[in-house]
Amino acid sequence: MRAGFKTRSAGETVRAGELLARLLAPGDVVALSGDLGAGKTHLVQGVAHGLGVAEPVTSPTFNLLVVHPGRVPLHHFDLYRLERAEELDDIAFAETLESGGVSLIEWGDKFPGELPADHVEVVIRVGEGDERVFEVRGTGVRSASVAEAWLEACEQEGLR
Ligand SMILES: Nc1ncnc2c1ncn2[C@@H]1O[C@H](COP(=O)(O)OP(=O)(O)OP(=O)(O)O)[C@@H](O)[C@H]1O
Ligand SMILES: [Mg+2]
Repeated sequence: MRAGFKTRSAGETVRAGELLARLLAPGDVVALSGDLGAGKTHLVQGVAHGLGVAEPVTSPTFNLLVVHPGRVPLHHFDLYRLERAEELDDIAFAETLESGGVSLIEWGDKFPGELPADHVEVVIRVGEGDERVFEVRGTGVRSASVAEAWLEACEQEGLR
């Protein structure tokens, strides 16, 4: 079953990320996909803030992975420019996911076979004006509980 919420400003998307951060634990993987410029990086910025990351978070497009120290390390991937799944070995993709941080992967739907079985899927579509439509789904037991709790927290925050 798919479910989701909408945001109506970049600030609301950052807020949604902050709410997600509270629910994430080391080893969790969140795959972000959808439209170009939909707000994936803004969501990651909110998660970073929620995890206590002090440094600025920008798009890691040119280096594919940036690790930000926080209460839990944040692994911020952006696979947009990646052409072949084999290149994931160059950034130790699988090992990094398992190294005890929280991983957020922009364009995470690009190489679905490389993702762990249990991950949160977030698809963001551009709506009218500043509206962004989020679809959220867990693909396993752990991620489904994260997804459900996040949707609940967003709802309580007035994001629906
Ligand atoms: N509701 C919203 N949520 C997030 N961003 C919004 C929203 N409304 C407008 N924006 C604008 O949309 C853009 C989103 O940029 P952002 O870099 O977060 O997207 P992205 O999905 O990471 O892009 P890319 O596909 O290039 O990685 C920003 O310019 C932001 O100000
Ligand atoms: Mg981005």
